[in-house]
Amino acid sequence: MAAAVSKQRYAGIPSNYIFILYIRAIKRPKNQFGILAEASTVLMEITIKRPDDWHVHLRDGIMLAAVLPHTARQFARAVIMPNLTPPITTADMAADYRWRILQILPDEVAERGFQPLMTCYLTDETKPADVEQGYLDGVFTAVKLYPANATTNSALGVTDIAGRAMVFEIMQELGMPLLMHGEVTDPDIDIFDREAVFIERVLAPLRLDFPDLKIVLEHATTKDAIDFVRSNRENTAATITAHHLFINRTDIFEGGINPHRYCLPIAKRENHRQALRQAVASGDACFFLGTDTAPHTMGTKETACGCAGIFTAPVALELYAQVFDEEGALDKMEAFTSLNGPAFYGLEPNETTVTLIKESWTAPDRIGIDDGQSVLSFMAGESLDWQLKE
Ligand code: DOR
Ligand code: ZN
Repeated sequence: MAAAVSKQRYAGIPSNYIFILYIRAIKRPKNQFGILAEASTVLMEITIKRPDDWHVHLRDGIMLAAVLPHTARQFARAVIMPNLTPPITTADMAADYRWRILQILPDEVAERGFQPLMTCYLTDETKPADVEQGYLDGVFTAVKLYPANATTNSALGVTDIAGRAMVFEIMQELGMPLLMHGEVTDPDIDIFDREAVFIERVLAPLRLDFPDLKIVLEHATTKDAIDFVRSNRENTAATITAHHLFINRTDIFEGGINPHRYCLPIAKRENHRQALRQAVASGDACFFLGTDTAPHTMGTKETACGCAGIFTAPVALELYAQVFDEEGALDKMEAFTSLNGPAFYGLEPNETTVTLIKESWTAPDRIGIDDGQSVLSFMAGESLDWQLKE
């Protein structure tokens, strides 16, 4: 896989860490001759403020029960996507959904606290007053814009984005973020160009029309997206997934077509993946963590017309750590995972911390669901460099 390309190891461990970093030598047990059985192994640990995931698909029912512990294990807060069937279009629906999530939190997580931040699925019918009330009541954190039919469960998304101006107006006044699935749906546009064309045709004009609206371009996959966000950074940000940092479009076909590497926006050429890696490694405030972890059962992935979505929740934070390590930028990890997102949303960073340790482990394979089906984890069965210390 493409990720193996940039192994920089510890060449330039920076001295100005903003989090606690310490290297320790672990002595292996002595053998019967009193000699160290193996050479000392150097382990590395990083402790950072507990991260948040600013883009998560938890689904509902037994799927929710199966996947929630994986996200809740790592993150303090998560922005919950509303593309259920039916979609979460009202504050009442969002409040009920939030309750269902909190109900089934594992005990140890419930004690520590996990906060689902709810989103409103924007449709052609959404009323500005309902969005405003949901926000003021503390139910909605943000609005999610899916261009109609752009991706999974987006059939009821927006057909006329310019026609939603009244909603954007009120959001701008409130300081409420608009989260965008940034792809055009025109079938004549090549699937690999849909994000770049969206930026040109939709995002750029919207940015000019609503200069104070907080916009998050979700799951950025192109250098075009990175450049656009950087040059409009005051009120524009992008989330970047773990999987887009690891795979490029060639990897989808490595050894045969691999439906578990299919997601939307689809992974792009290697130069785009490198631009994403540089963006996260920069620690710039306009980029933050959003996994877009999107579980689908094996049956709905491995079929003639497989669903889009990559399930990264069991390995997400560990993969991001690997990227920062490989890019020689561990000192920037906390900004990307734990500081930039809250700052953009106008929230405080978390007070608690997590520790990751550089020690290889094997990523889980399938996550079972109560009905006997299962979901395949990204990187299933592969050796990963970093693990979360529980
Ligand atoms: O790959 C994706 N899967 N992209 C999306 O935008 C939606 C998601 C899902 O809900 O499965
Ligand atoms: Zn998503």
